[in-house]
Amino acid sequence: MASLLKLLFLLTFTYSFIFSHIFAAADSNDVKTYIVYMGHLPKNHNQFSVASLHTNMLQEVIGSRASTSLLWSYKKSFNGFVAKLTEDEKNKLARMEGVVSVFVSQKKQLHTTRSWDFLGFPQDVKRAPLESDVIVAVLDTGAWPESDSFNDDGFGPPPPKWKGSCDTTNFTCNNKLIGAKYFNIDGVAGDGETTARDIDGHGTHTASTVAGRAVNNANLYGLAKGVARGGVPSARIAVYKICYLRGCSDADILAAFDDAVADGVDIISLSIGGFQPLPYFEDPIAIGAFHSMKNGILTSSSAGNRGPFLGSVTSVAPWFLSVAASSIDRKFLTRIVLGNNITYQGAAIHTFDAVVHPIVYGGSVPNDGFVGEQSRFCDPNSLNPTLIENKIVVCENIQGPRNVFQSGGSGAVIDGDFGSEDYAENYPLPTTYLSSNDGNDVRSYINSTTTPNATILKTDELVDEVAPTVVSFSSRGPNRVTLDIIKPDLTAPGVEILAAWSQGTSVTGINGDTRVVPYNIISGTSMSCPHASAAAAYIKSFHPTWSPTAIKSALMTTATQMSSTKNPDAEFAYGSGQIDPLKAIDPGLVYDAQEQDYVSFLCGQGYRDTSLRIVTGDSSACSEATNITVWNLNYPSFALSTRTAGSISRTFNRTVTNVGGADSSYEANVVAPSGMEVSVNPSSLTFKSIGEKQSFVVTVTATIGSNALLSGSLVWSDGGHKVTSPIVAFTL
Ligand SMILES: *[C@@H]1O[C@H](CO)[C@@H](O)[C@H](O)[C@H]1NC(C)=O
Ligand SMILES: *[C@@H]1O[C@H](CO)[C@@H](O)[C@H](O)[C@H]1NC(C)=O
Ligand SMILES: *[C@@H]1O[C@H](CO)[C@@H](O)[C@H](O)[C@H]1NC(C)=O
Ligand SMILES: *[C@@H]1O[C@H](CO)[C@@H](O)[C@H](O)[C@H]1NC(C)=O
Ligand SMILES: *[C@@H]1O[C@H](CO)[C@@H](O)[C@H](O)[C@H]1NC(C)=O
Ligand SMILES: *[C@@H]1O[C@H](CO)[C@@H](O)[C@H](O)[C@H]1NC(C)=O
Repeated sequence: MASLLKLLFLLTFTYSFIFSHIFAAADSNDVKTYIVYMGHLPKNHNQFSVASLHTNMLQEVIGSRASTSLLWSYKKSFNGFVAKLTEDEKNKLARMEGVVSVFVSQKKQLHTTRSWDFLGFPQDVKRAPLESDVIVAVLDTGAWPESDSFNDDGFGPPPPKWKGSCDTTNFTCNNKLIGAKYFNIDGVAGDGETTARDIDGHGTHTASTVAGRAVNNANLYGLAKGVARGGVPSARIAVYKICYLRGCSDADILAAFDDAVADGVDIISLSIGGFQPLPYFEDPIAIGAFHSMKNGILTSSSAGNRGPFLGSVTSVAPWFLSVAASSIDRKFLTRIVLGNNITYQGAAIHTFDAVVHPIVYGGSVPNDGFVGEQSRFCDPNSLNPTLIENKIVVCENIQGPRNVFQSGGSGAVIDGDFGSEDYAENYPLPTTYLSSNDGNDVRSYINSTTTPNATILKTDELVDEVAPTVVSFSSRGPNRVTLDIIKPDLTAPGVEILAAWSQGTSVTGINGDTRVVPYNIISGTSMSCPHASAAAAYIKSFHPTWSPTAIKSALMTTATQMSSTKNPDAEFAYGSGQIDPLKAIDPGLVYDAQEQDYVSFLCGQGYRDTSLRIVTGDSSACSEATNITVWNLNYPSFALSTRTAGSISRTFNRTVTNVGGADSSYEANVVAPSGMEVSVNPSSLTFKSIGEKQSFVVTVTATIGSNALLSGSLVWSDGGHKVTSPIVAFTL
């Protein structure tokens, strides 16, 4: 583990070295789109005065070009702007009073229904009458408003707190889908994309997973047939489109946060991420989520799809929820029957008819100008269209099927152990994905006869006995910005999820795929995030006054613990475990925290006083009294890292708030593996009223070898509630 992690650190440093090298070499007159982040809104501001402040600042730095350089002003929920600047101008602005950070607006990527039943959250679960007052903001690719999942039959008007709007460019809102906007500050949107209408599918899928109404008989060509439903089917959805076919720009992400907070939403769901973790005030998602937290709104964000490498999680700030992806008890396998009647089975979703076709090895059918060493991977254009016509082609590459499709083949077999065989994907033509052992057998069969043929059968739906396990692509901890806060925080279903889809695209979105469907099956931490967002909205409907941190704590301390035998990366893969929404509405105790606690944490992390004052908008400063170590942030999990093997000890101060019975007493139960000792003082807590707070100190001593991760836990129990926190000690 350690060596892998070091490699990752090394890679990151190498990359930043190369990048800074490139930037240094680039012409300093190069104009880029920068985000100038300025923290809290000024006192007694109005939107007009904030915008003119931005123009004045720019004028001071770039004179008359200011008006054309300014692309956007953030002025509703926090302060900042987007401008086109040279490197010199950027440096001047960065030194100006009131500026917290200036960073390039980069592009980020997008990272039925059985999943809710699997979580023990059936359709007839108890519901709070207030559920229809909960508004979830989905920052994504927009939505397909005509989807049955967004039908508003039986819905009353939006709750009065709603201040948002509906951009009606080729889009109609209703009482379910109450808001829709798109942002295109630095011109990422392509032709036909300047509307909140989703032509990708992703946003429709995530929004319907959070709060789609129940739709019977949803399925993808008969697969995953059942009731498709969001976790909070009575809640309202507001979509903020920030992702286009060319990606999602930081400038747009921040604009969506700025608006969503001002529009009066309750939960923000964001299934998007960057390529590497960033310092908190240069990470637009961390900035947006900070201001949403200040305003009482929890942001739920996907951990990322860059797993299984350690340290790959990019969504890391302590004030939002970071969600990994795990499997449910259903899986899709696709069989191939060879002409010799031997059958193999692989992970893939195949919705077409089963037809027998001749089968060839890609390496044997190179196109003119290519050799077998290229065509064996079925690289673009590497296959001879005449020789693969009407044939199934064996490719040693997961990208192969798309190229077989585009070169006119009739089917594809992926042959190889690429580490992604633990989830099934859609392909534009009949495909299955075999292990390299099975793939080798198929190639031997091809060699063994002059007329080899095969049939790829329609996908089978099977029971996955080992679920839940965290899927390979789900980004892993540790958290490379703050090592001693476990990220991801928890996991939720993100494998082969059926949810609503856009009619503006096809099943795969690949050119030539003509399958336009109302429901589609896809995988990603993008799919797990909306499950957690919905669980948060569900809690909010029962406890409208709970802080974002209390909601997050409830989700984490009631999560179902997962197996480190089935998931060797343990907490780095699943955090506190798999969400259990029903338990989460009654957690017993919560680890609460307010803006000031996070600011104290940032002080302790060495963030500058002046920046923090701008972020918070008050005169709070870092002092010895407010400066807290990472171990004393009131987080619902415990982590302790060390760079060298040996013995290490830390104390963690925590405060829990009673949200269970008025009169209750809790006992601390510790589970510690060999090499870890944990003491809790006091080890019992007695409460006389709801809302009462009690503090305790956890001391963890770990004797740890190199390459190691030790997992223990602390459970506060009153006989009914089990308030569970993982305790992790690890060496890098
Ligand atoms: C496929 O191959 C098997 C075995 O060689 C043969 O019996 C069968 O007729 C073939 N099917 C087609 C459609 O060519
Ligand atoms: C394959 O099985 C089918 C039906 O079970 C049978 O008709 C055929 O002869 C078998 N072919 C071979 C090559 O064993
Ligand atoms: C198939 O035949 C080719 C050419 O004779 C050979 O190079 C290859 O190793 C064979 N593949 C298998 C899996 O037997
Ligand atoms: C509305 O969106 C659909 C789907 O993308 C598109 O086909 C249609 O042309 C659009 N209509 C208008 C008026 O832009
Ligand atoms: C707060 O903690 C940081 C990091 O440990 C340290 O650099 C700074 O001096 C501390 N500030 C105060 C006021 O104690
Ligand atoms: C942690 O708790 C102990 C015991 O209650 C207390 O003495 C200490 O001051 C606390 N430390 C911080 C930083 O709050």
